[in-house]
Amino acid sequence: MGGAGFMTGMVLLLMALSSGVRSCPPSDRAALLAFRAALHEPHLGIFNSWTGADCCHNWYGVSCDQETHRVADITLRGESEEPIFERAHRTGYMTGYISPAICKLPRLSSIIIADWKGISGEIPRCITTLPFLRIVDFIGNRISGSIPADIGRLQRLTVLNFADNQISGTIPASLANLTSLMHLDLRNNLLSGPIPRNFGSLRMLSRALLSGNRLSGPIPGSVSLIYRLADLDLSRNQLSGLIPESLGKMAVLSTLNLDFNKLSGPIPVSLFSSGISDLNLSRNALQGNIPDAFGPRSYFTALDLSYNNLKGAIPKSVSSASYIGHLDLSHNHLCGKIPLGSPFDHLEASSFVYNDCLCGKPLKPC
Ligand SMILES: *[C@@H]1O[C@H](CO)[C@@H](O)[C@H](O)[C@H]1NC(C)=O
Ligand SMILES: *[C@@H]1O[C@H](CO)[C@@H](O)[C@H](O)[C@H]1NC(C)=O
Repeated sequence: MGGAGFMTGMVLLLMALSSGVRSCPPSDRAALLAFRAALHEPHLGIFNSWTGADCCHNWYGVSCDQETHRVADITLRGESEEPIFERAHRTGYMTGYISPAICKLPRLSSIIIADWKGISGEIPRCITTLPFLRIVDFIGNRISGSIPADIGRLQRLTVLNFADNQISGTIPASLANLTSLMHLDLRNNLLSGPIPRNFGSLRMLSRALLSGNRLSGPIPGSVSLIYRLADLDLSRNQLSGLIPESLGKMAVLSTLNLDFNKLSGPIPVSLFSSGISDLNLSRNALQGNIPDAFGPRSYFTALDLSYNNLKGAIPKSVSSASYIGHLDLSHNHLCGKIPLGSPFDHLEASSFVYNDCLCGKPLKPC
C-alpha cells in the first residue's frame, strides 16, 4: 500500500469509527425498519435512503439527538417542496399503518406523519409510553379507532394534531392532564360525546381546534380559564346549551368559531366588547336581541350571526364599532332601520337579507 493509499485508508477508518460512535443503536434501527415495513409508499421512494447501519445519517426524515445518538424525530410530510417531491411533480401518497414498533424508540421526541392521505389503521396505543414525546402530528391520513385513553401521560406534549382523519370515540378525560399542550387540532374526525369538563386545565393551550366532529353537550365554562387561548374553533358539531358569558372576558381570544351547532339562549353581551375579531355564531338557535354593546373596542374582521332566531332591531351602538369587515345578519327575524355609520358603509344587501322587516340602505328605504 502506498502513502496516499495508507492515508486514504486511515481517513476511511476514522470516518467509520466516528460514524460508529454517532450511529444509532441497532435497536433503534430495527424499530425504524419495522415501522417502514408497515408502510407502502409507491411513488417517491422516500424510504430508499433507509439503508446501512447508521440510521442517524441520511435516512430521509429521521434525525437523532446530538448527545444521546438516539432517534429523536421522524418527520415525513406528504406535502412538501423538498427535491424528492419536486422531481416527481406530485404530492405524497402512502398506505399501510403506523406500526407500534415506533414505541421501541424510547427517546422519540417528535413524530410527524402528515398528509399521506392513505395511511389507515389505528393510533398505536403504546405511544403514551414514550415519555419524551413533544410533537405528535398525524394530520391528513385515514386513521381510525379512538384516541388512547391514557394520552394524558404524555406530560411533555406541546402539539397534538390528529386533524383530517376518521378517529371516533370520545375525547379522553385524561387529555386535560396534558399541561404542556399548546396546540390541539382534532378537526374533521368522527369524535363524539362531550368536551371534557376539565378542558380548562390545559393552561398552556393557545389553539383548540375541534370543529367538524360530532361533539355534543355544553361548552365547558372552564375553557375561559385558559389564559393563552387565542383561537377556539368548535364549529360544525352538535354542541348545545348556552354560550358561556366568560368567553368574552378572555385575555387573548381573537377567533371564536361556534357556527353550525345547536347552541341556544342569548348572545352574551361580553362578546361584542372583547378582543375577539373573528366571531362566527352562524347556524345555531340563538335567540333574543343583538346585544347593544358595540363600542370603540369592537373590531371585527368577520362577524357572522346568520341563520339564528335573533329578533328586534340592529342596535344603534353598532355604528360606534371601530371596524366591521364582513358582517352577516341574514336569515334571522330582525326588524327596523339599518343604522348608518362608517362600519356599515361598505356592506351589501346580502349582509341583511332574509329577515322579517329590516329596511334602509343597502336594502330598500323604510
Ligand atoms: C391526571 O393526572 C393525575 C395526576 O397524575 C392523575 O391522578 C389522574 O388520574 C389523571 N387523570 C386522568 C383522567 O387520567
Ligand atoms: C360562518 O359559519 C358558516 C357555517 O359554518 C359558514 O358557512 C360561513 O362561511 C362562516 N362565516 C365566515 C365569515 O367565515
